[in-house]
Amino acid sequence: MTGTTPAVSVFARKPISRVIEDTEEDGGLRRSMGVVHLTALSVGASLGTGIFVVLGEAAPLAGPALVLSFVLAALTAGFSALSYAEMASRVPVSGSSYSYAYATVGEIVAWVCGWCLMLEYAVSVAAVAVGWGQYINELLTGMFNVALPDVLNAGPGSGGLINLPAAVVVILATLVLLTGGKESAVVNTVMVGLKIAVLAFFCVVAFTAFKAGNFAPFAPLGAVGVTVAASQVFFSYVGFDAASTAANEAKNPQRDLPRAIIWSLGIVTAVYCLVAVAALGALNWTQLGESEASLARVMKEATQGNWAALILSAGAVIAISSVVLSVMYGQTRILFTMSRDRLIPPIFGRVNPKTNVPSANIIIVGAFVAILAALIPLGELADATSIGALVAFTIVNVSVIVLRRKAPEGVNEGFRTPLFPLVPMLGIAFCALLMLGLGPETWLTFIIWLAVGLAVYFGYSRKHSALRS
Ligand code: ALA
Repeated sequence: MTGTTPAVSVFARKPISRVIEDTEEDGGLRRSMGVVHLTALSVGASLGTGIFVVLGEAAPLAGPALVLSFVLAALTAGFSALSYAEMASRVPVSGSSYSYAYATVGEIVAWVCGWCLMLEYAVSVAAVAVGWGQYINELLTGMFNVALPDVLNAGPGSGGLINLPAAVVVILATLVLLTGGKESAVVNTVMVGLKIAVLAFFCVVAFTAFKAGNFAPFAPLGAVGVTVAASQVFFSYVGFDAASTAANEAKNPQRDLPRAIIWSLGIVTAVYCLVAVAALGALNWTQLGESEASLARVMKEATQGNWAALILSAGAVIAISSVVLSVMYGQTRILFTMSRDRLIPPIFGRVNPKTNVPSANIIIVGAFVAILAALIPLGELADATSIGALVAFTIVNVSVIVLRRKAPEGVNEGFRTPLFPLVPMLGIAFCALLMLGLGPETWLTFIIWLAVGLAVYFGYSRKHSALRS
């Protein structure tokens, strides 16, 4: 009870018309992105450490059936993508699932969603940056035969002191974002093209060493192995929804956001399945999990030399920096929206009049992510990302069901999820399945994170919320 404003429930909804109105007076973000930039933003946010590093780490969990784990994770992402597409077209504002939940299921669920998005975005940037570090090391060793000392190459949890490369890439991305949204989108689109080219190169080289025997036995660890590995590789799909965080900067969000979300998920699924088949065919799954920068190892085995591994590592360094860039961009936009709703302090919503970007917000996010990346191991960061994303996706699936039931304003416009309510219900069931595949430490981290989030909500957000003023 706040005393002065007891009438407004924690389940208060923000009317969709007001959500959209607030977007219109968003303080000067430019509407410059078309469907290509938006799709590139989502692909840029997805295709990175997951395929370049986590694929190798997950191989020992499922064996060659890891390919099926990628399909299971894609289905989970796919059902939720359709819900995202519907919500993004109905509530085309930058806050992504946070805004959708605010307009449908109410403030406290929106808050939990926004809090989970910090795992899906900020914590995932840290994970991605750690993966980037593995490839920059591979590149430095391959080209100049130099390697950073171990203390500067990993955080305390992995036997070092600080992961310097991971922190450096985050700082670089922060500087690019400070230059402005449009420039970032263009840089990102070019990098996405490059990374698809590099993964195509990987597939061509790996297929020259393809051995069908590497796929037998196909599922040595059974259905449980496939599911547990799917929970882990789900990380690689996280980010397909990033376009929905750029609604404020989209030229035609209602038309282009659903397209961008569905296109990007289709593109990354096709790329992942091909890369997984190529990698597992070229290198036995038992060996795939043994080394860091696992795709570079595949290249060395396939060519019996270094040249292809070097090209791939250079590509991975570029590819993964584009993920850092897109996902950090998404995080700053979500915080921007939450700050406009006054659930977090106003500093996150201030736009720099010279660059038209929320500078303080970008700097705070950059500092937080750089510290995480410097100190925490990849596996822990990636699993925390996945659980946050799975909860956020679940909330989006619920939001679609609630939105259709309540039929509020705008209900006849925009993209509609097919086979309603089956698709969002399957989305919820698949998210739950993959959440169960994550380990107890991940659950514990998540419960602590949630408890802190609720403390912030009741201590700050509820009192300051714009809905109560
Ligand atoms: N999906 C992103 C990646 O794989 C987080 O790097």
